[in-house]
Amino acid sequence: MDPIIEQMKKNVSVRDFKDEPLTDEVKKELLQAAQSGSSSNFVQAFSIIEISDGKLRDTIADITNSAPYVKKTGAFYVFVADLYRQAQMLKRRGLSLDGIKSMEQLLVATVDTTIAAENMATAAESLGLGICYIGGIRNDIRQIAELLHLPKYTFPLYGLTVGIPNGKNQVKPRMPLSNQVATDHYDVEQLTNIGDYDQKVREYYLSRNSNAQDSTWTDKNVDFFKEIRRPDVGPFLKDQGFSLS
Ligand SMILES: Cc1cc2nc3c(=O)[nH]c(=O)nc-3n(C[C@H](O)[C@H](O)[C@H](O)COP(=O)(O)O)c2cc1C
Repeated sequence: MDPIIEQMKKNVSVRDFKDEPLTDEVKKELLQAAQSGSSSNFVQAFSIIEISDGKLRDTIADITNSAPYVKKTGAFYVFVADLYRQAQMLKRRGLSLDGIKSMEQLLVATVDTTIAAENMATAAESLGLGICYIGGIRNDIRQIAELLHLPKYTFPLYGLTVGIPNGKNQVKPRMPLSNQVATDHYDVEQLTNIGDYDQKVREYYLSRNSNAQDSTWTDKNVDFFKEIRRPDVGPFLKDQGFSLS
């Protein structure tokens, strides 16, 4: 099996790192890997902010509910979906910014940013490092934007903590391909029949070394989606200049 694919299939989030900063050389490699992903229409609609100031890192960490592995890690980056550069270009030419503000371009920036982050994650794992995405920065997206001085037409999507792992969790079982891959059309029966997978996830949660629990995948999802999470994200995006339409 190809070693890159092998590594991808072993991907796990790491939540316990050594207190050892990454070297500048490693960080440069990771950042260049992030930059090298595909980009919709080559707009490169993201910026990456490394949080190096200890006090700032602590403040951000406390917002995330993931503080231990944001504070103690090799490096912590905030991935910012970013159309501010394009807004400036249009402004300089006296053009309307409507083309920046649309929902479509918000999706474009989100996708570009995510491709960059996952490139960094894969690169980090190839160097034996561990990673964890930190969507918890959106627990207070407005404060994060203020702390990082984010201009309009940008938004902080998530953090990525990268470091030398103290240990790794067991790989979480993914859905069988039959639940996630269809041919020619969306096959409702095939893609939503997740009874077997629910049991597999339940066994995984019951048997894992830390934080064992009796939960199926359905239980987890119902818990996650039963109420509106982070309702301030939409209004914040509007304030950042996006029309959401
Ligand atoms: C966009 C995104 C945001 C995430 N945010 C957090 C977070 O704030 N804190 C955390 O501990 N894990 C976070 N995770 C990690 C997920 O919980 C994890 O990927 C998922 O449970 C699957 O586990 P695995 O990565 O070990 O396979 C995030 C993952 C993604 C993709």
